[in-house]
Amino acid sequence: MTRVFSGIQPTGHLTLGNYLGAMRRWAEADQYRAESLFCVVDLHALTMDHDPARVRRLSRQTATLLLASGLDPDVCTVFLQSHVDEHTRLSYLLECVASDGEMRRMIQYKEKAAKERERGRSVRLSLLTYPVLMAADILAYGANEVPVGEDQAQHVELTRDLAVRFNQRYGHTFVVPRATLPPVGARVMNLQEPTRKMGKSDDSGAGVVYLLDEPDVVRKKVLRAVTDSGREVVYDREERPGVANLLDVLAACTGGNPESLADVYDSYGSLKKDTAEAVVEALRPLQARHRELCADPAYVEGVLRDGAEKARAVARPTVDTAYRAIGLLPPVAEPSLSAAR
Ligand code: TYM
Repeated sequence: MTRVFSGIQPTGHLTLGNYLGAMRRWAEADQYRAESLFCVVDLHALTMDHDPARVRRLSRQTATLLLASGLDPDVCTVFLQSHVDEHTRLSYLLECVASDGEMRRMIQYKEKAAKERERGRSVRLSLLTYPVLMAADILAYGANEVPVGEDQAQHVELTRDLAVRFNQRYGHTFVVPRATLPPVGARVMNLQEPTRKMGKSDDSGAGVVYLLDEPDVVRKKVLRAVTDSGREVVYDREERPGVANLLDVLAACTGGNPESLADVYDSYGSLKKDTAEAVVEALRPLQARHRELCADPAYVEGVLRDGAEKARAVARPTVDTAYRAIGLLPPVAEPSLSAAR
């Protein structure tokens, strides 16, 4: 059976980009067609300057939103990365397979490190090694598929390289995974700067639709989206990134196709209006379920506890196999120590 693994960082309030690029597919399709695990990757949230109380708060909120989006703990596994030691255990082994040059070539590292330096902060070593931890997240579970947005494709590519290299050097241990991207919505752009990805940590929230934004706030943000000079509605991501982004969002929310939708509209105003309503409708059930779940934090905690247990049971044998394969002795009583040579 296909196994799916994906993760999301609790580094900010989740956005429409997270939802359309990743979460919605996990909830609507992946969990039903594959054995799936979805993880709030809290260790990754420590790679940049962080406030411990905020990470705790956002970890809870992110897990609650995953459930609110429709992930069903009876069907899939939802858990926190730091509750399963196998991620960090495996990460170290993979650091012994990866090279520093490979890490320094990662686009997200370059962008985020530059941002930290601009702010006069030092760059944490964990920001450089982050993609190795991400590879460990995926490889520990033997996942074949990793449903992500476009910005994570390079990290999944690196994961493939590390898996192949490890297998060649130390014997077949890991499944070589592949990224799966949604047909539309793989890269939702910031509404105010449509050449930049919509991100949780963007400095200003004006161009970012957060999943918990009130309907009127969503409407305002979409209606104020920067569009391009010109009048007619055409789908051209290079020349008309603002309009193309609105068409992508509308298509992703309504299940349409951005090119055909362009033919339906003769003004930016009507496109914005329909897009705003489509986003409000897409978020409505999620927000309602989120309100219910917030009233029952013990339920969410129980889901995470059971999820971690299930996840550990899947990851441990693979990580133990990797420890043996790379040359580490098993921690057992004396007689087998000499036998294991
Ligand atoms: P993160 O937390 O930035 O984003 C979670 C998921 O949302 C997608 N996404 C978007 N998709 C479309 N448009 C956008 N504007 C947009 N913004 C975010 C991301 O592509 C991602 O699928 N490194 C990962 C987390 C991670 C992970 C993993 C993912 C850690 N370990 C293992 C998969 C497998 C990250 O920072 O995602």
